[in-house]
Amino acid sequence: MAEIMQVTNQRYRLGYHLMTPGGWMNDPNGFSFFNGWYHIFYQYYPYTAEWGPMHWGHARSKDLLHWETLPVALAPDAHEDGCFSGSAVAYDGKLWLIYTGHHYTAPGNGEAFYEDQNLAFSEDGIHFEKYDGNPVLRTPADNTKHFRDPKVWQEGETFYMVLGSQQDDGLGRALLYSSRDLKHWERISTLAKAKDVKEDGYMWECPDFFHLDGRDILLMSPQGLAAKGDCFRNLNQTGYLMGDLQRETRALAHGAFEEIDHGHDFYATQTMKTPDGRRVVLAWMQSWDSPMLEKADGWAGALTIPRELRIENGKLFQKPVREMETIRVDAGATETLAMGETRALPRTSEVALTFHDVPTGALFQLTDGEKFLLVSVDRAHRRLIVTRSSADGERAAHFTHLSQLSVRLFLDTSSVEMFAQDGEVTFTERVYWNAAPHLLMLAAPGADAQVYALESDTNRY
Ligand code: FRU
Repeated sequence: MAEIMQVTNQRYRLGYHLMTPGGWMNDPNGFSFFNGWYHIFYQYYPYTAEWGPMHWGHARSKDLLHWETLPVALAPDAHEDGCFSGSAVAYDGKLWLIYTGHHYTAPGNGEAFYEDQNLAFSEDGIHFEKYDGNPVLRTPADNTKHFRDPKVWQEGETFYMVLGSQQDDGLGRALLYSSRDLKHWERISTLAKAKDVKEDGYMWECPDFFHLDGRDILLMSPQGLAAKGDCFRNLNQTGYLMGDLQRETRALAHGAFEEIDHGHDFYATQTMKTPDGRRVVLAWMQSWDSPMLEKADGWAGALTIPRELRIENGKLFQKPVREMETIRVDAGATETLAMGETRALPRTSEVALTFHDVPTGALFQLTDGEKFLLVSVDRAHRRLIVTRSSADGERAAHFTHLSQLSVRLFLDTSSVEMFAQDGEVTFTERVYWNAAPHLLMLAAPGADAQVYALESDTNRY
């Protein structure tokens, strides 16, 4: 038996984000609620800090923030070379996992593979057994080998599945299926499809489909988009099509693809509906092209904080779930920071800043003396710009109005998540701080600041 990878240095371990005990993590999977617990699974390779034959890591929580790591839920067996991304539903007293089986067809050739969809189930929410009738869905004839990442949900007596796919014409699409029992699936429609590779992508990974505030949203991670101005600057993107599901065709009539987060480190989202009706999203807090400095320490990857989604003015807004307030460990300090002033920050902290009059140019910087995150504004073009002290460091987003500005920042040992204008725009960044950063005010009129220290040890292994 190979040994589980051990973490050899704590310097970048996060305080309140979900991480593996050691080894590699990518996409969140199976985000669900079962028998009083939130469950999250993730793409996991336990034996090195690199991507490898995919397992499903597993953790559960009562509050979406304090995670208890459980035994590995799925490992590849003789029938498959990897258990790729998928989802979970509670049904018939069991927690069901619907995952992609990844199968190589030529030894040593990572590009020769096929994919199918499979089931596993558990009665205690801890130990999972694979269904002996697997696979439950094979690649259809009009598809290439890219056929993965099932997201399943239940409506009344029916289960629906949205699946990431590449049609045989080389364009990405999301397929819709339905089932009565999770075991027999019928294809219903093509929910949406790319028209052009560079505009829309050659493969749509990790699709998720849900109704929110009167609209239908297809959230997904297309591969192959060409960068366009400030948009689509990572290797692959994550964003959404907003529209309305057509009753007859079961296709989504939708507007343009919008990026959901503007930072370097946000990919492969998954949502769930909480028991009290909130639509909450999580993402892998990394991108395939991220530097991942923590690999040197025996681990890689983390998930973002959970964020509640809502639609406002035709846009998807994200807000940290209200449970985030319960991990504040002090009463908070409120102050006004004048230009040039510096404020020391706890290593794990939440900072709210309000700029009553937004100038053009630099607003503030988080810095440990060497590494930094600089936030500035280009008022003429209503751009908010985040610059990170690393190669290809700049990212920007656009607003309709930008005279007043409020931002909420969540700092952790090696990450910063910024929510601007009440969540209209977010930036998610890994910043590998050498020491707790300072906040340095650079805007002429200064800003009101509120700072809370946050818990720094929410993972249990
Ligand atoms: C997205 C992804 C998925 C796939 C998984 C494999 O990051 O490529 O499409 O299921 O990662 O680990």
